[in-house]
Amino acid sequence: MERFVITGGPRLSGRVLISGSKNAALPIMAATILGAGQSRLENVPDLRDVATMAKLLRLIGAEVRREGHGLLVDTEHCSHPEAPYDLVSTMRASFYVLGPLLGRFGRARVSLPGGCAIGPRPVDFHIKGLRALGATITLDGGYVLAEADRLKGARVVFDIPSMGATANVMMAAVTAEGTTVIENATKEPELVALADFLVKMGAKIDGAGTDRIEIEGVKSLSPADGSIIPDRIETATFLLAGAITGGNVDIAGCCPEHVSAIINKLEECGVKMTLGGSAIRIEGLERIGAADLVATAYPGYPTDVQPLHTALMCIASGSSVISDTVFPDRFTHVAELNRLGAQIMLEDKVAVVKGVEELRGAPVMASDIRAGAALVMAGLVARGQTQISRIYHIDRGYERIEEKLSALGAQIRREGK
Ligand code: EPZ
Repeated sequence: MERFVITGGPRLSGRVLISGSKNAALPIMAATILGAGQSRLENVPDLRDVATMAKLLRLIGAEVRREGHGLLVDTEHCSHPEAPYDLVSTMRASFYVLGPLLGRFGRARVSLPGGCAIGPRPVDFHIKGLRALGATITLDGGYVLAEADRLKGARVVFDIPSMGATANVMMAAVTAEGTTVIENATKEPELVALADFLVKMGAKIDGAGTDRIEIEGVKSLSPADGSIIPDRIETATFLLAGAITGGNVDIAGCCPEHVSAIINKLEECGVKMTLGGSAIRIEGLERIGAADLVATAYPGYPTDVQPLHTALMCIASGSSVISDTVFPDRFTHVAELNRLGAQIMLEDKVAVVKGVEELRGAPVMASDIRAGAALVMAGLVARGQTQISRIYHIDRGYERIEEKLSALGAQIRREGK
């Protein structure tokens, strides 16, 4: 099994280029199902999850191949509207094909995603929204069976903002008959990117990025070309890596406006940053100040960065209180951080972190993408050697993170096979 071996200490310095967004690429790859023919996607990150989505598209009948930093996807001959359990259980985002398959074929058989380390991941909003559009949906043997002769526009109101449910309903609504209004829609930049791509395919969508999206159904969509936006969670990861090591890092090819909540929180910790166009420069501090955190829906502080902020607070001066309103149980990283000498108390879904002078290296285990990234953060500053196992989780969401960190001066290497 592969692992990362990190020797803590070096302050990071230098320039890092941010890759395309995993969470924008995956729904856009699914959206290509709606336009029979060739779509060219630029700046697609080379990740395990992208490979999984490509495998799923091939199962459905598409051709998918890498072209430089992009993908060529040809959905002309898609004919098999199914997403099997063995794929969906490894990547929840496989569920994104439900809406497009229903929109193109009028039927779909998609496995229910399993649970995952960050908590229960229901899909009730997806099902409620598709039923509102007139789909008949039944659950059979762990699969969602969806059918609709002709989807009809409707008003869909979500109890809480959901990236996946907003994406799936939007992708089903773009060729439905009439108008669909989605209320309490997610405002995440990845949803806006998906809407922009669908508009390039011929969809009529207004209001993406706000909590009310209006979609005018059209008869059919065509293939389109597009470029994937920078990954805001990777941007946050390198901001926090610079902060935790007290380094000076230039983060290039990012969208500073997509990480405002993280910038504000780091400023609260006393960190200095300068923003320019598509770059952020972070200047190291001797010791990070403590700052409480409540992770909430976009544009609030993202749940995906909460584990990394928790790692940063482990060596802050003072104590901090951290909770996550999106995934309240998302604290599997706490026990592993405590193995490195952190002092984190977890009670009633709230983590209280007492900052310590120093962490000490030890063997730890990644449980999901961002918990793994949090352990990498801690390993960068822990005295001695930290070994992180199950790094396949990290590879799902980060493009060769050890190479990017090594280029910034970190002592990190990948070992084993
Ligand atoms: C997306 O997951 C991201 N994944 C997650 O990133 C991210 O943590 C999450 O959004 C929240 O920002 C991708 O984009 C591929 P949601 P998603 O539907 O769409 C509840 C990573 O590390 N909910 O926005 O599955 C849900 O329980 C991954 O890159 C329902 O109750 O999340 C949560 O509390 C991890 N019923 C809230 O909504 C539903 O039917 C938001 O979840 C759907 C969601």
